[in-house]
Amino acid sequence: MPAATTQLALQGGTPVFDAPVPFMAVGLTPADIAAANEVLESGMLRAASKCAALEERFASMTDAKTGLTCANGTCALQLAYGAILEPGDEVIVPAWTYIATASMLVAAGAKVVFCDSLEDSYQIDPADVEKRITPNTRAIAATHLYGIPVDIDAIQALAAKHNLKVIYDCAQAHLAEYDGKGIGAFGDACTYSFYATKNLGTGEGGMVTTNDADLARTMGLLRSHGETDKYVHESVGFNYRMNDITGAIGLSKLDTLPEQTERRRAVAERYHAGIDQIEGVERPTPTKGSNPAWHLYTCRLNLDSFTCTRDEFIEALKAEGVPSAVHYPMPLTDQPAFKDVVKRNESENSSHTARPPVAASLAKRVFCIPMHHNLTDEQIDGVCEAIAKVAAAYHSA
Ligand SMILES: Cc1ncc(COP(=O)(O)O)c(C=O)c1O
Repeated sequence: MPAATTQLALQGGTPVFDAPVPFMAVGLTPADIAAANEVLESGMLRAASKCAALEERFASMTDAKTGLTCANGTCALQLAYGAILEPGDEVIVPAWTYIATASMLVAAGAKVVFCDSLEDSYQIDPADVEKRITPNTRAIAATHLYGIPVDIDAIQALAAKHNLKVIYDCAQAHLAEYDGKGIGAFGDACTYSFYATKNLGTGEGGMVTTNDADLARTMGLLRSHGETDKYVHESVGFNYRMNDITGAIGLSKLDTLPEQTERRRAVAERYHAGIDQIEGVERPTPTKGSNPAWHLYTCRLNLDSFTCTRDEFIEALKAEGVPSAVHYPMPLTDQPAFKDVVKRNESENSSHTARPPVAASLAKRVFCIPMHHNLTDEQIDGVCEAIAKVAAAYHSA
């Protein structure tokens, strides 16, 4: 790293890094490639022994009883929602999550009710959920966003009190823990994405886990045309199956996932210490009792402390050699796809806003910094140095 000047690189100063820090670590190891080749050479390309082994191992690693591989995380949500919900059911979902958590509810015919999230952890706000429960509420769909578990005790207590189902979207939270257990131990169903950039990335791919044998059977039927025997279809379903090449890559990657997750946790600890020193920049605070998987490390700006916008801030960071990403640039309540949902919520719920304010505020303030298992301590310290440099340059008087 060159000796950085206080003048921003954006304005001609020396950057903190002379080459950009990698934002993420993706790719296949020779072991992953050998595992995929073994399947290719066998000619058994459909879901077979590799998918079955991945289901068993992943479920056990997340403390769930049963796992079902599927084509991607969106299909995993469809399997869970399709098996649990009836059309017209009201489901409470955060406005601060990836679109699929909510859009697949719409696809399942459910009535979406958006709720707010907590500023510090970015996770679903149980108090706001409770305000939005009506006699028609059937379920809560909560995302362990950025890999940080939600307040599962509070959500499960609400579910028990109001007789609700809970689906956890764990697409970003492989191997995260809560109360010392894998997150697969909680709720009715947990859905995962194995998209290429996820902590466990197989290209496309997904999994749904559950501890409920009847639910597992229904989701298994939905996954494969309701087929109970060759060309015998008990119910209408889809083809949401994985294939064994993907299964083999997933299995191979599971060998290193625990170690990589531990490194992500150490990276997060070092970031916490660095970012806590920077005025006006706030870091994620994990939910009490949780052990996050740190898919993303998301900071937020206190905009009153700065003369710049979040987008100007991250542009200056980029010039210092620190790429960042915005997850997400708008709350789901601002997405054109949910225009009608928000309109309906506005007309029906006069006692609480259909546009949750924390989610709207976070969309203007968050930015994710590099987070992966290959980051060195020197890189982590340099990222903090770059954030401090940009913050100092833009601090309001
Ligand atoms: C929270 C969340 N839910 C669902 C999904 C959908 O997963 P997939 O892209 O595998 O369909 C993603 C993927 O980005 C996600 O981050």
